[in-house]
Parts: sequence; C-alpha cells; structure tokens
Amino acid sequence: MNIKSAEFVISNTDYKLCPQDGKPEYAFIGRSNVGKSSLINMITDRKGLAMTSSKPGKTMLINHFVINNEWYLVDLPGYGYARRSKDSREQLQMLIEDYILEREALTSLFVLVDSRHKPQQIDLEFMEWLGENGIPFSIVFTKGDKQGPERLRMNVEEYKQELLKAWEELPPIFVTSSEKKVGRDVLLDYIKSINEGLTKK
Ligand code: GTP
Ligand code: MG
Repeated sequence: MNIKSAEFVISNTDYKLCPQDGKPEYAFIGRSNVGKSSLINMITDRKGLAMTSSKPGKTMLINHFVINNEWYLVDLPGYGYARRSKDSREQLQMLIEDYILEREALTSLFVLVDSRHKPQQIDLEFMEWLGENGIPFSIVFTKGDKQGPERLRMNVEEYKQELLKAWEELPPIFVTSSEKKVGRDVLLDYIKSINEGLTKK
C-alpha cells in the first residue's frame, strides 16, 4: 500500500472524544518505550509524525493519525512504566482499557513486544486480558536491529513457544525494526487486506 498522506488529527484522554467518522482504525499498544510511536513514523515514512523519546512514558494520550484519508493509525500510551505515581498509572491503565474495550472503530490491535527480551509477565498478562475480553490482536516484535539475525530468530521462536503454553493458536506475528525500516510492507499489506475486507461487507 502506498502512503499518500499521513496527518495528525487529534489527541484525547477519553475514547468517547475520539473521531466519530467511522473510519477503521489500527492501534499500537505495548510497554512504555517499546517503540510504538517510532513504528508509526516508520510505517508512514514521516519522521516526526508521532512524538518519540528515549525516555519511557512519552505518549500520554490517545493519538489519531489519518492515513490516505481512509483509515486511522492510533498511538496509545504505554503500560508498565514504574516511575509514575500510582494514580497516574491507574489513570493511564483505565484510558487504555476503556479504549480497547469500548472503541467500536478499533479494527485491529497490535501488541508491540521488544524482540530483545525474554517473554515478560506484564506483556503475557496483557495478552491474557485481551483474550479474556475477546479482543483479537497481532504481535509486533520491535527493535529487531538491536541484535543479530540469529539471536532475533531464536528470541521470536522462544516467544512463540511461550505463547503456545497458554494459547491454542498463535496470533499473526510481525518482526520489525523502525531503525532499519524492516516490516513496513508486510504490516501495510496486512492492514490493506483488512481494509479491503471491510469495504466488501
Ligand atoms: P512511550 O510513548 O513512552 O510508551 O514509548 P513508545 O513505545 O512510543 O517508544 P518510542 O517510539 O518513543 O521509542 C522509544 C525509544 O526506542 C526511542 O529512543 C526510539 O528511538 C527507540 N526505538 C524505537 N524503535 C526502535 C528500533 O526499531 N530500533 C532501535 N534501535 N531503536 C528503536
Ligand atoms: Mg510513544
């Protein structure tokens, strides 16, 4: 898919205030600092579109970006950033959970996972919560450039084995590097095929 246009639309603290024009939307979630905002910039090929930071906790709101005037990419705050007050953590958690459970336009959710780490409890529990609530998701491994290809392959394989302990089937899995622009075409094709399925209905 060609990205002809990618524009920031609005930031919100509440899913109820998000755009109501019915365009399908694709959201990125995952731990703080995993690379959600960077992936949005990589996919759209627009460097400063979503704000990124080397410090965790940068994205605090639900951010909508309209792509080709047809669909939205949504950048969400990360979960699990310990250096925040309990109140602020709980508030963000509520914002994320409400968005995921209530947002009708949410077409596909991508859970981002740092490809360098062993499976982390916080991510596995989050996916479990999605499963319990009947929310389908895909997994996007990020920062693939931060290790060699063999190590990367092994980590992804290990992760799949861990998932298969809890799940009968694996979700769609993508391996990316925003730094090296890896995974862009596959992700965009995936989104395109879902969009096409929606218009046929
Ligand atoms: P929060 O908004 O705080 O939840 O973080 P985020 O998930 O949006 O992460 P962000 O995109 O801001 O990236 C965090 C840091 O990781 C930044 O310093 C990025 O440059 C870096 N980063 C993100 N993706 C990649 C990648 O694919 N490769 C490398 N080497 N660094 C990356
Ligand atoms: Mg961010």
